[in-house]
Amino acid sequence: MAYFQYDCIVVGAGGAGLMAALYASRSASTAVLSKLYPTRSHTGAAQGGIGAALGNVEEDHWEWHMYDTIKGSDYLGDQDAIEVLCREAIDVVIELEHMGLPFDRTPEGKIAQRNFGGHTRNYGEAPVKRACHAADRTGHMILQTLYQQCIKNHVTFFDEFQVLDLIVEDGVCKGCIAYEIATGEIHTFHAKAVMLATGGWGKCWSVTSNAFTLTGDGAAICLRNGIPLEDMEFYQFHPTGIYKLGILITEGVRGEGGVLRNNLGERFMERYAPTLKDLASRDVVSRAIYLEIREGRGIDGKEYVHLDATHLGREVIEKKLPEIADFVRTYLGLDPVTQPMPVQPTAHYAMGGIPTDVDARVIVDAQNTPVYGLYAAGEVACVSVHGANRLGTNSLVDLVVFGRRGGRHMAAFANEIDLQPIQDRDREKRVRDQLERLLSGTGKEKVATLRKEMQKIMMDNVSVFRTGEGLQEAVDKLRELKERYQHISVEDKGKQFNQDLMEAVELGNLLDIAEATALSALNRTESRGAHSREDYPERDDKNWLKHTLIRRQEDGSYCFDYKPVVITKFQPAERKY
Ligand code: FUM
Repeated sequence: MAYFQYDCIVVGAGGAGLMAALYASRSASTAVLSKLYPTRSHTGAAQGGIGAALGNVEEDHWEWHMYDTIKGSDYLGDQDAIEVLCREAIDVVIELEHMGLPFDRTPEGKIAQRNFGGHTRNYGEAPVKRACHAADRTGHMILQTLYQQCIKNHVTFFDEFQVLDLIVEDGVCKGCIAYEIATGEIHTFHAKAVMLATGGWGKCWSVTSNAFTLTGDGAAICLRNGIPLEDMEFYQFHPTGIYKLGILITEGVRGEGGVLRNNLGERFMERYAPTLKDLASRDVVSRAIYLEIREGRGIDGKEYVHLDATHLGREVIEKKLPEIADFVRTYLGLDPVTQPMPVQPTAHYAMGGIPTDVDARVIVDAQNTPVYGLYAAGEVACVSVHGANRLGTNSLVDLVVFGRRGGRHMAAFANEIDLQPIQDRDREKRVRDQLERLLSGTGKEKVATLRKEMQKIMMDNVSVFRTGEGLQEAVDKLRELKERYQHISVEDKGKQFNQDLMEAVELGNLLDIAEATALSALNRTESRGAHSREDYPERDDKNWLKHTLIRRQEDGSYCFDYKPVVITKFQPAERKY
């Protein structure tokens, strides 16, 4: 066991965590704890681009970006936060460029931009080229660039450290407890400010674009510490995952002109979104794919449609979409230059998460009461700029804009206060005891079996279309799984690199998050954005133009609270593409 002390601790080394660490480290001692080697973080899987109204290819304005983001959110996004996102996107992309990020270029040498779903000119008139890209490896380039900058700025990295708990006392966060994967030791990290940037929880579902590591750790830790989660019912299914595998095929394919086709060869999005067609927002396109499949127009009667890029030509595919071309060749043995790609919606991104303000401070109620010293940014956080449905490219903007604001704020906060003593010295022991219980369990239940069952329940009942009956069934089954989780055993009893044990910990987190998601979805009796209730098919602004806060109580039951949506410039309107 060791004790470490820093001004600022950042948990997670994706785009938000690294941006925060970079900014915090300019004026405060800063460490990053990551369960992975940093450049393996999931930001690296973001492909198509980062949205900013640079206007390099055609006229654009941040106000247009703001309007598109609000409409994309089905009017649930907070407009003050969305204004920050869209204004600061411009400057942060240029900052990334100055750090050395190798963006693709226009013939004049400016950052190249492409179309992406839901991004339009002049308030919905037609698609606009707003996604700044580095081929289809934009997230990978952001991650590499920020990691280099952090190293240059002497950020300390604790790689392969799994954070198991926060130290929160009397409304103040004083650090965290982490498990060192290489040794099996538990360590205390004492700090003035802690940021959670632990990413999403796509592994709740069986078909997902997310890596194995996306298990909702930070959000689950908050739930267990009495911190609510916001808008958990809104989980995005990206329309184009590789059939059965879920691996992302970037929306950039459609941005470059690719189209979706059913078994009749029809470009079916023309019927669902007459103006933007294949470039409508993701919730609309995912629903359209499912409807086509339900009506018998899936390819070969199966649950997929075709993404056709064959008319784009070899040069466009090899130059602008090399990563997905490689994926399709490797995993499917198909050549996207000459053959259409089989795709289905894939669990992709959490719109909800830990509630924060625009400086990434974690807040716990509708009155915006902060937990002093606790921050969250990136996918784990809900600020809320994505509302009920995120537009493609806005995740990367969210990471760097709110990572930067959070990093600045936490360093300023840390420089103003003294390190607060930790009162409860037993916390570390409790965490160790919990791990010991998992290690010594002799029950019959297996982690892999429970995880698979959970993923199937979530896929069947808590995906693109939902019903009250299906959601109740999901809640009941998830509760059974949580009970069975008490009887798991892990095979590896060792201390070093005990992946069995870590998977057991992660499953505990996933089950908590899955339950919070299903309960929130059952609770919201309307359809909005990615939350599509077949038993409540209409958006209901009168009763539901509000954010949900789900909180776990001490006895393990859950309660709901609500927060108003911040509306500044754009009144809710009918949403058509
Ligand atoms: O389609 C994509 O390239 C994904 C981007 C995103 O989720 O923002």
